Amino acid sequence: MSTSNDIVLSVEHLSTRYGKVTAVADASIRVQKGSIVTVIGGNGAGKSTLLNSIMGSLPLIGRSQGKICYEGKELSSWEVERRVAAGMSLVPERRELFSSMTVEDNLLLGGFRLYRQGVSNWRSTIDEVYELFPRLQERRQQLAGTLSGGERQMLAVGRALMARPTLLMLDEPSLGLAPRIVREIF
Ligand SMILES: Nc1ncnc2c1ncn2[C@@H]1O[C@H](COP(=O)(O)OP(=O)(O)OP(=O)(O)O)[C@@H](O)[C@H]1O
Ligand SMILES: [Mg+2]
Repeated sequence: MSTSNDIVLSVEHLSTRYGKVTAVADASIRVQKGSIVTVIGGNGAGKSTLLNSIMGSLPLIGRSQGKICYEGKELSSWEVERRVAAGMSLVPERRELFSSMTVEDNLLLGGFRLYRQGVSNWRSTIDEVYELFPRLQERRQQLAGTLSGGERQMLAVGRALMARPTLLMLDEPSLGLAPRIVREIF
């Protein structure tokens, strides 16, 4: 049996438009603590738009309507920074790594939320990330911009994990990755 305390995220009747184009129409989802929810749809169906609406990272022309609650709190007025501080994390489709920084520095930046909150052992999460993705440890001094597609993907996921998020949203998590790595990520 689930209670409302178990609901990490609820989206009710969300619609998002870019100018006159409606990209998401009347979407509702619920995510329970400890669960994995998958959103499936063809190209242009609005999956990325849904995730960006939840994260508050839509482009300027994007407009959302509807109700999004995170841990029971309505978050429409929250800036992205506040959503991150509260434990939400999105690995965007375009990955958006810091290309001119090393792998390790990208990961450490991912831990900034914990650092700022004074979590003393925040750096130790990097060992768990390296255990999950040994390739990142091998390449830790390499610049992110020179990584292969799959390695960039690992780095983007690893950086998100560094924040020890409560809600981790992955846009196209298996894109360009070998099946074995996909299984490890899940
Ligand atoms: N900045 C934007 N301005 C105008 N239209 C946009 C913008 N971003 C996305 N769209 C449109 O919104 C619709 C939904 O796009 P979205 O990227 O959310 O789809 P998707 O389900 O993630 O697709 P894919 O599987 O190809 O990644 C598409 O028709 C797209 O062209
Ligand atoms: Mg997409």
